[in-house]
This record gives sequence, structure tokens and C-alpha cells, in this order.
Amino acid sequence: MESVVAVKGLNVWFGHAQVLSGVDIEFRQGELTALIGPSGSGKTTLLRAVNRMNDVFSGVRTEGEVALSVNGATVDAYGDRCDVARLRRTAGMVFQTPNVLPTSIRQNFTVPLRHVLGLKKSELDSRIEAALREVELWDEVKERLGAQAQTLSGGQQQRLCLARALSLEPSVLLLDEPTASLDFRATRRIEHLIVRLKESYPILAVSHSLGQTSRIADRAYVLNSGCVVETLDRHDLREPELLHRLAEDLF
Ligand SMILES: Nc1ncnc2c1ncn2[C@@H]1O[C@H](COP(=O)(O)OP(=O)(O)O)[C@@H](O)[C@H]1O
Ligand SMILES: [Mg+2]
Repeated sequence: MESVVAVKGLNVWFGHAQVLSGVDIEFRQGELTALIGPSGSGKTTLLRAVNRMNDVFSGVRTEGEVALSVNGATVDAYGDRCDVARLRRTAGMVFQTPNVLPTSIRQNFTVPLRHVLGLKKSELDSRIEAALREVELWDEVKERLGAQAQTLSGGQQQRLCLARALSLEPSVLLLDEPTASLDFRATRRIEHLIVRLKESYPILAVSHSLGQTSRIADRAYVLNSGCVVETLDRHDLREPELLHRLAEDLF
């Protein structure tokens, strides 16, 4: 069954500063939904609101609704009965700079798989291989799973982070500028991967690039000063003049 995430009337404050105001967005399986906007406009905060990662900061206050419909069941992320640890597994996240653990490639998986999912030793290998295959990294690393993850290239490290997120079997993916630190070739490779993954997971991805957004997104929300100021569909995203105006207005 299709999964959908709907955010309604979201307000977020850090201390006295309101950083998101009345945000309504939706993203669904089969589509890549992009968040674009200038630095400081609230893109990362919006992404983190979906899986309640903002809660780790003191002084944060969130109002509004985030509903995840997964396999026919709806999770109300800010409802009293929400299991936050489970929510964070449901909505897997990948960050701007690859955050590999300073340990082996294998342990980058075994640590979360054991601690978060409580998997047994015998269950680990097949899970790791499946995740690495899903991001097309298996052939590159299968002979050296014991090597330090930090010896991989930037693009490989980011694919490793994506594989690690996938190994925890999320239902939804949140990607925060996943290619911001990568060169052209590594960027294109991740873009292709993301386009393939959207068939299996609803994806909300922050992008720092209008070019990238027009290449891979099915829909985009433009944020400015914490508000959604524009919603672009696939057709809009292929309009050079509209993109040109956005680039002038926003960046
Ligand atoms: N943990 C935090 N504590 C206090 N302020 C924060 C925190 N995270 C983000 N902010 C503030 O919220 C605003 C939006 O930040 P962010 O969501 O990171 O924007 P973007 O990702 O679009 O660059 C900024 O003014 C930023 O300084
Ligand atoms: Mg950000």
C-alpha cells in the first residue's frame, strides 16, 4: 500500500524565535518531493520535524500535525501515543555530510542493527549485503567490509549512510542535502539512486540546487523565512523562466 506523509499547520520555535510558520506539505510514495529555499529558511528544521529529531534540542516547541500513513496505519507523530524511537526508525534520515562511524564498514551496520533492532549475529550478514546492494555499493566493498569506513570516497560514504538508513527498514526517507559535499560524478550517482528509491519509499529531500531539483523532483516546496511561499509541480520544475525567477528571488 502507498505511504503518505502529511504535515499540517506546523509551527516550530527555538526559544523565542519562530523558525517555521503554518507549514502545510505532503509527500508520497512514487514521488520525490524537494524542499528548496535560502540558507536559514527552515528546511532542515522541517525535515527534522517529521521524525521529531528537533526534540533533541532544548528550548524547541512544536505545534501542528504530522501524520504518517504507512501500510494502512496512521501514526500521529506529535500525538500522546507516539513511540518516538519507533517513529525515528520509520522515518530514516541521511545528513548533508556523510556521518559514518569511525569504525569498519561492517560495524557501521552492526552497531545500529544490534542496538536499534536487536538483531542476532546470524541475521546481520544478509541484512548488510541487501542494504549495500540497494545502494549499488556491494561490489565496491564486499572484499573489505573490515576496512575503516572513513577510507571510502565521499560518494561511497554517503551511499554507505543511505544503506545504513535502509538497513533499519524505514518506511519513509528524509534526505538533507545528500549531495552537498560531493563532486559532480558522485552527485549524479546518488541522484540516480534516489530516483530509483522513490518507487519504494516516500522521499522528502532538501536540495541546495535548483538544477538538481528540476532534474529529479516531482514536486517542490519553496521555503522562505519559515513559510512555504510556493509549491511547484513537475511541469513548473521544467519551466526555465520560473526557475530563473526563483533563483533571482531566493539565492
Ligand atoms: N538547534 C537549533 N537551535 C536554535 N536555533 C536553530 C537550531 N536549528 C536551527 N535553528 C535556527 O532555525 C532557523 C532555520 O534553520 P535551518 O532549519 O537549519 O535552515 P536551513 O536548513 O534552511 O538552512 C535558523 O535561523 C537557525 O539558526
Ligand atoms: Mg539545512
